[in-house]
Amino acid sequence: MKVLSHPTIKAYIRMCQDGWEQGWHERNGGNLTYRLKADEVDAIREEFTFERPWTELGVSAPNLSGEHFIATGSGKFFRNVALCPEESICICEMNERGDGYRVVWGLTAGGRPTSEFPSHIMNHSVRVKATNGECRVIYHAHPANIIAMTYILPLTAKAFSRALWQSATECPVVFPDGVGVVGWMVPGGADIALATSELMKEFDAAVWAHHGLFASGPDFDITFGLMHTIEKAAEIYMKVVSSGKPVMQTITDADLRAIARDFKVTLREEFLDEK
Ligand code: 13P
Ligand code: ZN
Repeated sequence: MKVLSHPTIKAYIRMCQDGWEQGWHERNGGNLTYRLKADEVDAIREEFTFERPWTELGVSAPNLSGEHFIATGSGKFFRNVALCPEESICICEMNERGDGYRVVWGLTAGGRPTSEFPSHIMNHSVRVKATNGECRVIYHAHPANIIAMTYILPLTAKAFSRALWQSATECPVVFPDGVGVVGWMVPGGADIALATSELMKEFDAAVWAHHGLFASGPDFDITFGLMHTIEKAAEIYMKVVSSGKPVMQTITDADLRAIARDFKVTLREEFLDEK
């Protein structure tokens, strides 16, 4: 089967378009990776080529040995993915040690996978472990409101998780573990990859201060939905603090506990105030 005819590749491209339409991907901002299933690789392998060189990642993820990832290209625009996918995205095969990769399809006009590939691979590695292999998608975007929040809140998981949970009633149900927060770091390398993956052991989303958000999930719908829910809550939060009006009421800790009870989710206790 042709790569671009496969339903999973079509779903990947649709998610890139959805992110662009949300305004989360100015220029080349953001990146998306998906860990292909074995049967998906088998279905499209006929179009793979193996002449491009192996490249070191700078990080090591032995549990991803031999896995295949769809990735956006570094410097490529989400806006162009649907128009010209073969130039904008690629499929990468991991080497046996899990510390390098080669491009086996795509990027037909040249290029390499996203500069955040080390972060994506380290996040895949810890999320695969944390979810018994369920996690397949890592998504990085630059949504404006979650970035704005990183200028006015303490850069702690507790402060962000509480502010987001209290900004929309569904939030504690969608991300009961809360979100992690990484302080400002230079993007695109091993250091930020390691710092983020430490947090992703516990969280399925992590904020990058003054930069954006990483979200993870088992499929495109859940991962896009997580990004969307967090950014919408951030938008509500920023609208409230920008309104100039005092906050008259909010979702209390007792309310959060009531949601957790009725929706049968466990909220991270250390993020709640005492009963
Ligand atoms: P890439 O174009 O290399 O994917 O970088 C975009 C980005 O968002 C960096 O954090
Ligand atoms: Zn970025």
